[in-house]
Amino acid sequence: MARRFLVTAALPYSNGRLHVGHIAGAYLPADTYVRYLRATGADVRFICGSDDNGVAALKTAREQNRSVEELTAYYNECQRRDFAGLGIHFDIYGGTHQPAYVRIHEKVSQDFFLRIHAKGFFTKRTTRQLYDPEANQFLPDRFVRGKCPHCGSERAFGDQCEECGRAIDPQTLLNPVSLMSGATPQLRETVHWYLRLDRLQSKLAQWLSSKKDVTAAGAAWRATVLNQSLGRIEAEGLPERAMTRDLTWGVPVPLDDPDAKGKSLYVWFDAPIGYVSFTAALCERRREGPNAYESWWRDPDCKVVHFIGEDNIVFHAITWPAMMLATHDSDDLQGVRGEYQLPHNVVANSFLNIKFPGQEEQKISKSRGLAVWIEDYLKTFEPDPLRYYLTAIAPENARTAFDIDDFIARNNGELLNAFGNFFNRTITFAHKYFEGKVPAAGKRDKQDEEQLQRCREAVVKTGGELEACRFKAGLSEVMALTRAGNLYFDATKPFMSRKTDMEACGRAINVCLQTCRTLTTLISPFLPATGENCAAMLRLGADYPKWSAATDELPSGQPLAEAVILVKKLDAKELFSEA
Ligand code: MF3
Ligand code: ZN
Repeated sequence: MARRFLVTAALPYSNGRLHVGHIAGAYLPADTYVRYLRATGADVRFICGSDDNGVAALKTAREQNRSVEELTAYYNECQRRDFAGLGIHFDIYGGTHQPAYVRIHEKVSQDFFLRIHAKGFFTKRTTRQLYDPEANQFLPDRFVRGKCPHCGSERAFGDQCEECGRAIDPQTLLNPVSLMSGATPQLRETVHWYLRLDRLQSKLAQWLSSKKDVTAAGAAWRATVLNQSLGRIEAEGLPERAMTRDLTWGVPVPLDDPDAKGKSLYVWFDAPIGYVSFTAALCERRREGPNAYESWWRDPDCKVVHFIGEDNIVFHAITWPAMMLATHDSDDLQGVRGEYQLPHNVVANSFLNIKFPGQEEQKISKSRGLAVWIEDYLKTFEPDPLRYYLTAIAPENARTAFDIDDFIARNNGELLNAFGNFFNRTITFAHKYFEGKVPAAGKRDKQDEEQLQRCREAVVKTGGELEACRFKAGLSEVMALTRAGNLYFDATKPFMSRKTDMEACGRAINVCLQTCRTLTTLISPFLPATGENCAAMLRLGADYPKWSAATDELPSGQPLAEAVILVKKLDAKELFSEA
């Protein structure tokens, strides 16, 4: 039976375009992982879509003077295009408020809420909140500005001060002003439903603890993820959290209670449920029946893996699993068939900084125009140089920087000079001196055998890293084999032996071609377009990504296609001259 995985990548807010930081954070590692799993024969569904609800989209829509429906539909489409341009292929790209998905998403979200409600994991509570008397509505924290109670900055938001970075209790903001109308907000009473995280925390802690070790169930979770989840529970415990908002843009609270009128589910409640509702939509599209999503979400034989950025850790490693636990009948954390399965892994990357030529490294900032936008990148470049660089510098354990000069240097130095050149010199040689065919393997000597042994080891090592979601380490195994291939070529000197010993020359080129064969499979999850070009040169069949065939030998006499340019030389000026 094939292994089964449900892989998700964080749902991007549909109020802006994507930049390199987003891609490095969640989407590229997720796509690489999915491609690898499929190469091993696993049955995988890869789910994403836009996060349309909540305040973020509303606020941008207001600022841009367009309806929130139009705004989110527009960005949903832009993001879809950006992902496709980078070769990031989801099985479905939904959207929590897109016309084609909103119905199923509301149903799944409301059922989820009602289930938790019936299980007694919500408390209904009255609180006081800022209210705009002119706009006649409660104000989301982001819609209030004022003076920071910590540092005195005049430009703080209700939830956070951008100046000193500290979190703010909106009721302590000085001289508050509503961004809706300019009015001075008042404190008014309102009612919300709070998730009893306090009652779920010991179960959560027990489950998270089981992720510390490498077990039969898989690799240990990343330290940053465990620190921000288990570490937080151990240090301070979990307070109840409101899961409803005074907002009409979102999933309506499905309770038959006058206090629920005009309220929506908190966007961080409905967003992760989007993973489920989009899976259901995908099953529906494939006509697999109304309950088919259960075989992905309520079946312990399927592993759910979430890819996210570091700012999403708490929601994916605490809140979302808590929501699922709150729906369970059973106490069994290992997963009972028929109940929502807790994630097998939550893979989070840190943020990416940016460094333009001649400038300091800085934080990516949308508002200050400090970013490399995918749309701009794709106007000039192909996807694989970016995929290569973002994996080579992946912020897996700490922040790293997208350094424009380094991007160019590594493309030209590593991808072109090492990888592209190894294929090029090998295949060109075969065309020149062996009629474009794989020369006879001959009687291999120790050096030949050692190189073939390196190929076999690289398959195992790269696979091991990818299983454990260490993408940077996986790619460096591929590059190590590439360098070994070049060294082998240099050491066996086919350019010399062709004049004296055609048999030895053919043997060396044969081994180089076998190395190319292996590299084709190994590079494919990382750089799918490059992998395809490699496969075409070697005339491999369509199943070339198949991991178990990575060291299948090319038979002697097999014809090769003409060498094509695998990697182009890049120049920073083409895109980033006026950053
Ligand atoms: N929209 C959120 C962000 O960009 C991520 C939501 S992930 C989800 O930070 F699972 F909750 F959907
Ligand atoms: Zn401040």
